[in-house]
Amino acid sequence: MTEAVALRPATADDAKALAALVNAAFRVERAPAMLGGMDSQRRRFMNATAGLALAALARPAQGQAKKGAPPGPRPRPEEIEHEEEISAPEDLMREHGVLNRILLIYEEGLRRLRAGGAVDAEVFHKPATLVRGFVEDYHEHLEETFIFPRFKSGPLAELAVVLKKQHDAGRRVTDVVLQQAVAGTFSRPEARQEVIRACEAFIRMYRPHEAREDTVLFPALYRVVGAREVKELGDHFEAEERRRFGAGGFEKAVEEVAGIEKQLGIADLDAFTPR
Ligand SMILES: [Fe+2]
Ligand SMILES: [Fe+2]
Repeated sequence: MTEAVALRPATADDAKALAALVNAAFRVERAPAMLGGMDSQRRRFMNATAGLALAALARPAQGQAKKGAPPGPRPRPEEIEHEEEISAPEDLMREHGVLNRILLIYEEGLRRLRAGGAVDAEVFHKPATLVRGFVEDYHEHLEETFIFPRFKSGPLAELAVVLKKQHDAGRRVTDVVLQQAVAGTFSRPEARQEVIRACEAFIRMYRPHEAREDTVLFPALYRVVGAREVKELGDHFEAEERRRFGAGGFEKAVEEVAGIEKQLGIADLDAFTPR
């Protein structure tokens, strides 16, 4: 398959490096006698190096997308290649970012319900579906399979037990949202009350839950298993993400959550800035 290639703007350093290579190649061309038998071999080296420099300047757009590079054609999630290496904690933490955005969506839904406005069931059902598929069945499954067992003994054993207990509680809460926030049922006041209670409990539990994982459990992982195994875990996670969602699983989840935000009119980040 042919890959679309976008040029990134060359930096001053790129230009300097390229100029040095070109000059070096010229020196090789102009002084063949000096180089003797090494001439053709070194010229091949220079050509190859210059080729690498040019290739670096014309890096595929995919590599840029996640590093906040200047805007170019935006790759679709399924086109994104995971070239960069992401450690297991970084992977889990950025998934917490998706979860945080879901909490924000729940909060907006609750705010509208309390204000007595018309709120569609899907305002809750859509994020709950993303919670089930991306957070509970994938992210938490990884934590329960690869992270929590490393803390079975030691000072964080109790924390790991509570975190697992909260995953189970979260799944029960999500069951309620998925069952009650459906067209027809959701028009009943009791169903709305159940969804309100469930979402409030979910938000209240998950803020401290993910904060504790980010600040206590994940940093401790390096002490418990060592940097090399943390890196290997990152590879495992990446493979599992691909197996479940195909290429760009994380990006698809971000796109989905952004779509719900847009639908709710809370996509403008600057709207959250105090005036
Ligand atoms: Fe967790
Ligand atoms: Fe987590």
